[in-house]
Amino acid sequence: KVNGLEFAVADLSLAEAGRHQIRLAEHEMPGLMATRKEYAASKPLKGAKIAGSLHMTVQTAVLIETLVDLGAEVRWASCNIYSTQDEAAAAVVVGRNGTPDKPEGVPVFAWKGETLEEYWWCTDQIFRFDGEGPNMILDDGGDASMLVHKGVEFEAAGAVPEPSEEDSEEYRIVLDRLRKSLAEDSQRFTRIAANIRGVTEETTTGVLRLYEYAKSGELLFPAINVNDSVTKSKFDNKYGCRHSLIDGINRATDVLIGGKVAVVCGYGDVGKGCADALRGQGARVIVTEIDPICALQAAMDGYEVTVLEDVVDKADIFVTATGNFNIITAEHMSRMKHQAIVGNIGHFDNEIDVAGLEKIPGIKRVEIKPQVDEYVFPDGHSIILLSRGRLLNLGNATGHPSFVMSNSFTNQVLAQIELFTKPGEYDKQVYVLPKKLDEQVARLHLDALGVKLTKLTKEQANYIGVDVEGPYKPDHYRY
Ligand code: NAI
Repeated sequence: KVNGLEFAVADLSLAEAGRHQIRLAEHEMPGLMATRKEYAASKPLKGAKIAGSLHMTVQTAVLIETLVDLGAEVRWASCNIYSTQDEAAAAVVVGRNGTPDKPEGVPVFAWKGETLEEYWWCTDQIFRFDGEGPNMILDDGGDASMLVHKGVEFEAAGAVPEPSEEDSEEYRIVLDRLRKSLAEDSQRFTRIAANIRGVTEETTTGVLRLYEYAKSGELLFPAINVNDSVTKSKFDNKYGCRHSLIDGINRATDVLIGGKVAVVCGYGDVGKGCADALRGQGARVIVTEIDPICALQAAMDGYEVTVLEDVVDKADIFVTATGNFNIITAEHMSRMKHQAIVGNIGHFDNEIDVAGLEKIPGIKRVEIKPQVDEYVFPDGHSIILLSRGRLLNLGNATGHPSFVMSNSFTNQVLAQIELFTKPGEYDKQVYVLPKKLDEQVARLHLDALGVKLTKLTKEQANYIGVDVEGPYKPDHYRY
């Protein structure tokens, strides 16, 4: 605690470097800046206490400061152990008018390279507003929401269960964290949950968790699925990954991608961006899919579509983008070419079976540099694993660039305003933002690209059955 401000970041002296990057990012984030301007006077988030769990990058710094400008109090953690940009975290803590000796910004609990224990400690910290909990959650991947849901479940049971044989190391750490919380205050998360007006969730994987809670009647508060705003998943997941996948591979390995054979597992929004980027570099790209529609899309986009088993010993680069688990197994990795590059861009680290890889008798891990590991098999051949199987675009690079994140985060801010200012209007279900707002987010990003939009005439609008001012498509339209 310095100057009355709680925080845990790597080094506050990085704040100036962070502030320069934030300043440049602001220019590239017209959606967020327009939102700041629009709501500067009315401050719709006044009274909001937002617990944020989302990659602590430069772009997220612009999001946090937008929430603050709209009146919110914020506490923040990253949603991944490797994704924090330490200079951005420092700048947010120091604030726009503070100094490293006298920080005046926002409590941030995040640094690059946390252990899993530290990660869950940081996540717990975002729920510790002065004297009480938050009344909003802003989540990416659902870890913050999961902590509250599990906390409430165990408080109702009066005890945290012992981990079972199948539980992952990470889940054991979550149980430990909740055991400590329960010992400290047996109703802590129950009270927190009762005060939460809603959660806005950033990504495919987190949204999946929320729909599961809603389906089983366990969802504790209303949720807005930000991911399925068109201006989020069809832009961030696709064009964002098209940029940051290559950035991660390049910074990690600097290997020439042109001419190589690259496999992309999953041809959803993320996979489409990844395949496009690898092809753009001149790689021969092979796609794997389980969904016949996405497989057909990949084939018509000109990719070979086959099963991993057939190409595992032929490809040079492997990228998982499925949001599923056990996509690349230890056995697959043992059959790969010498120095094949293996990385994941899906939300969680179980797409590649790293735990299984590390259990292979005689396997040796050589750290080439932070977040780049060579695994040497007993026969002498090796593979290069990026970010220990965690999102490589955030672990090995700095995630998506500002312009695309401006779209995602403008949706986040609108969703926060919606749930915070309309308590009682939403049930404990998962909602998406109305299409009108989605179109508004896109509109805010046109000028910066010099886009000239054609205006519908009244007659044309009548002819296709829409309003001149939009929305221009029915909800079932897929873009
Ligand atoms: P999506 O649902 O659009 O695509 C996933 C695709 O994987 C689907 O087409 C599905 O059929 C396919 N798939 C599932 N199991 C498979 C298997 N065993 N083999 C081959 N394909 C399989 O989801 P989206 O939006 O593309 O997201 C994918 C993951 O990436 C999620 O975990 C999401 O949270 C994450 N994400 C990561 C970002 C990043 O910056 N790293 C950005 C956005 C999303």
